[in-house]
Amino acid sequence: MRSIWGLLLLFLGQTVAYTIPTVRFEYPTMRGFRASIPDTPGLQMFAFHARLNKPFEQFEEGDYTEDITVPDEEGRWTYDTNKPALPNGTIIYYWVYVQFANEGYWLTDKKHTVIRTKATAAPRTTTTKPTTTTVPPCPATLTTLNGGQSTCAGKLIFEDTFELGSFAPKWQHEVRIPLDTDSAEFVSYQNLPENSYIAAGRLVIVPTLVTQSADYNDERIRTGELTLAGCTSPTNNPYECQRKAARSTILPPVVSAKLNTKHHFRFRYGRVEIRAKLPKGDWIFPRKHTHN
Ligand SMILES: *[C@@H]1O[C@H](CO)[C@@H](O)[C@H](O)[C@H]1NC(C)=O
Repeated sequence: MRSIWGLLLLFLGQTVAYTIPTVRFEYPTMRGFRASIPDTPGLQMFAFHARLNKPFEQFEEGDYTEDITVPDEEGRWTYDTNKPALPNGTIIYYWVYVQFANEGYWLTDKKHTVIRTKATAAPRTTTTKPTTTTVPPCPATLTTLNGGQSTCAGKLIFEDTFELGSFAPKWQHEVRIPLDTDSAEFVSYQNLPENSYIAAGRLVIVPTLVTQSADYNDERIRTGELTLAGCTSPTNNPYECQRKAARSTILPPVVSAKLNTKHHFRFRYGRVEIRAKLPKGDWIFPRKHTHN
């Protein structure tokens, strides 16, 4: 690719009358960006190709790409998208092809780093028209929280970094013998310090075997009874709250924890990000649910 590029330069060397100006980037909200070059008589096309945080290896199409064939009312050839969310420090890798007076021009291996001065606003550029620099304080979004409360596009609506060391008020334990999972017969969710705790800014969930508990005996798992105080069966099903072992029905041999936010935070539409270390081992699996 590089050698072709070199040849192209030599070939065009005689007729170069145009240099692609610096591409101007703007990101007036948390989402999306604009990339533009000024209009010049003779300009026929501005093809913009970009992707986030990953350099191009070739002239690939790019995740954010369009051939712009007319200047906008501001007199700029502008690529505009509202798709990606652009956190501070995002690197926009891009390449550009411009057709000018029936000749093609390239800008390759370019990158632009998003630097935000405020949480939602980009630095203003002096040449931008007022209509484009006026950042709506609260862009509209379909997202609602806690049963209909509205919010702003791009706004973080819930976060827990577990720095405060407490489950309340955000999280509640479920206490039940679940009937809604494939392995229902093997586990009970309980609120016990050995099964769930917060330490050093982390929520830790540890499944334990009932054989590890002091009052365990084989007799008990086959003939005993388990009654969960403070049971939280969502369907008020008594079978989720107590179990009597008999014949093939044993008491669940595993105790684990399940937590939810439903009394504190609910949302409709949005993106969930979780940073978690996942367990390794037979019969162990993490679950993340979003419930109605
Ligand atoms: C964005 O990052 C730059 C450089 O890392 C930093 O100087 C600036 O304060 C950051 N802006 C915000 C809003 O965090």
